[in-house]
Amino acid sequence: MKYFDAILLTGLCMGIQPALAQDDHSLLSGDVENYIGYGAIMAVLVLFLIAMLVLLRTFKVLTRVILKSDGYTREQIEAEMNPVKLKKDKSEVWNKLLSLRPLSEEKELLIAHDYDGIQELDNPIPAWFMWLFYGTIIFAVGYLLNYHVFHTGQLQYDEYKTEMAQADIAKKIYLSKAANQVDENTVKLVHDPAVIAAGQAIFKQNCVACHGPNAQGNVGPNLTDDYWLHGGKINDLFKTVKYGVLTKGMPTWEKVLSPKQISDVVNFVKSLNGSNPPNPKAPQGTKELETESKLASN
Ligand code: HEC
Repeated sequence: MKYFDAILLTGLCMGIQPALAQDDHSLLSGDVENYIGYGAIMAVLVLFLIAMLVLLRTFKVLTRVILKSDGYTREQIEAEMNPVKLKKDKSEVWNKLLSLRPLSEEKELLIAHDYDGIQELDNPIPAWFMWLFYGTIIFAVGYLLNYHVFHTGQLQYDEYKTEMAQADIAKKIYLSKAANQVDENTVKLVHDPAVIAAGQAIFKQNCVACHGPNAQGNVGPNLTDDYWLHGGKINDLFKTVKYGVLTKGMPTWEKVLSPKQISDVVNFVKSLNGSNPPNPKAPQGTKELETESKLASN
């Protein structure tokens, strides 16, 4: 058995080593080492099984030899080696499942030896327990193949990474949806350069014709001063851009721009306040100090 211990230990060490030495300088890659490790464990297990079978066989032969030397006849030895199977009470499923024997059979179950007058019944191991036991073996083999040999299943860390990636995607989708749910009541004044830049692009494309390249005013009013026809708070701007002032020539943008885009462009317009562009259009509307509107919108 000394050899066996040695082989078993080697197998275990090879299996464990890759886990310990992920970033070592060994010539073999972690994967190859893993395969060698698992192969070694499998080989050791098979060897173990063979050794068990050989031992079982040896015990049987030895028993025969000892019984023979004790003066047993051939028939007696045969009877001893292959005890007659006791008849089961087939009517009772429960008894069968638990491998229970009726009390009347107790005599047949008694083990010949007694220990200081104490006797034992040779009750068989219940079937459910044996199946549970075999089940664990089958499960273990399946588990090993699935997770460590064919890599069809994901180990904890990989599973964690996959789920985090999925959650990231879900989060992005949720956030983009949430951003698009903004309206004139929930719009917020932000100073995020990304938002301002997006707003600037939208302004260039849609608003320059009437409000001028620097929003200094053209057909439409100057959007950089403190005078507003329809309110200077971010919420007011959102409302004006969303619904427009059709009778005065300001289109509605509800159908053209998404809520997020409207929010971006009005934030860009707010960022222009006080930029004093050349050739500004004369102020229109009532004066609303930026500090006041800022306070109101926050
Ligand atoms: C077709 C020309 C036209 C276009 C294009 C246009 N506007 Fe206007 N806009 C106007 C006019 C005209 C007014 C003034 C409405 C009034 O007198 O009530 C106005 C008013 C506004 C106001 C309100 C100003 C205030 O004093 O209350 C804002 C804000 C505004 N526009 C933003 C935008 C934005 C942002 C865009 C681009 C998405 C845009 N406009 C595109 C013509 C336009």
